[in-house]
Amino acid sequence: MNAIDLRKVTGTARLQALRIVLIGPPGAGKGTQASVLRERYGLAHISTGDMLREEVRRETALGLQARSLMAAGQLVPDTLILDMMSQRLQQPDVARGFLLDGFPRSRAQGQALVATLGQLKQPLHAVIQLDLEDEEIVRRLSLRRSCPSCGRVYHLQTNPPTLHGLCDSDGAALQHREDDNEQTIRTRLSVFHQQTRPVIEFFRSLGLLRTLDASLPIEHVQHLVERHLRAAMVRNSPLSTSRRFAVTRYRSLGKVSR
Ligand code: AP5
Repeated sequence: MNAIDLRKVTGTARLQALRIVLIGPPGAGKGTQASVLRERYGLAHISTGDMLREEVRRETALGLQARSLMAAGQLVPDTLILDMMSQRLQQPDVARGFLLDGFPRSRAQGQALVATLGQLKQPLHAVIQLDLEDEEIVRRLSLRRSCPSCGRVYHLQTNPPTLHGLCDSDGAALQHREDDNEQTIRTRLSVFHQQTRPVIEFFRSLGLLRTLDASLPIEHVQHLVERHLRAAMVRNSPLSTSRRFAVTRYRSLGKVSR
């Protein structure tokens, strides 16, 4: 990623912008939670899956390279993803904070992200892991439908649209994703366990990881996600930093008991 360009964009928002990663297996609910957080916190929702599907739809060079890999449930090569993300992170909306959904997904992507943000002194506030068992994922994704126009996600049993087959927001006909068939879902799960689990461990080693039970109802998961975000904001706020410094200083002077 191009550190200089990203610095230009994010520099003004250093104190208030939240920088979050939502990580978890396919179907854990990353997109569902991201759409709520995007609205509530005014964050840029950056989904590499959505970006790649748009490239495929427009038949760009990247889309043509990604199409068969996505249909087979395999990862798109790191170099292509890092190029795409470098450009995305230079967009002006990133300055108000961002929520990464589906990125990073390999060790190389994780290390590139942390190195770039570290150089910029714009570290992540939190990495929220949505944890869910494989069999529940197969059930969820087989019945998922999404709106091609606004991206809103439904489930035919647990979160159905009001009118069958139509998006509640804009009335568009809902679609079943090509990679949401059982065989491809199982391949995606195996790719997740082999290539993305090490990234989760990497974030754990950095002390950034917060793990949630994603089998809970959507609103309950949302509540837990927000609790972690509020804690991350308090931990990283300048007030909390200066208060911690003051308490430490007073303790060292013997003015505050432990
Ligand atoms: P991507 O689009 O990122 O797919 P994914 O990670 O497989 O995740 P999904 O979008 O399938 O699931 P989600 O966690 O967002 O779940 P959702 O909220 O929709 O990637 C697709 C492909 O692109 C990859 O396979 C790869 O080829 C490529 N790619 C993308 N990023 C890449 C990268 N960085 N590097 C390389 N390649 C990359 O929810 C699922 C369903 O469950 C919905 O029906 C929803 O209504 C329901 N639901 C959600 N939460 C709950 C709940 N709490 N209770 C009950 N139901 C729920």
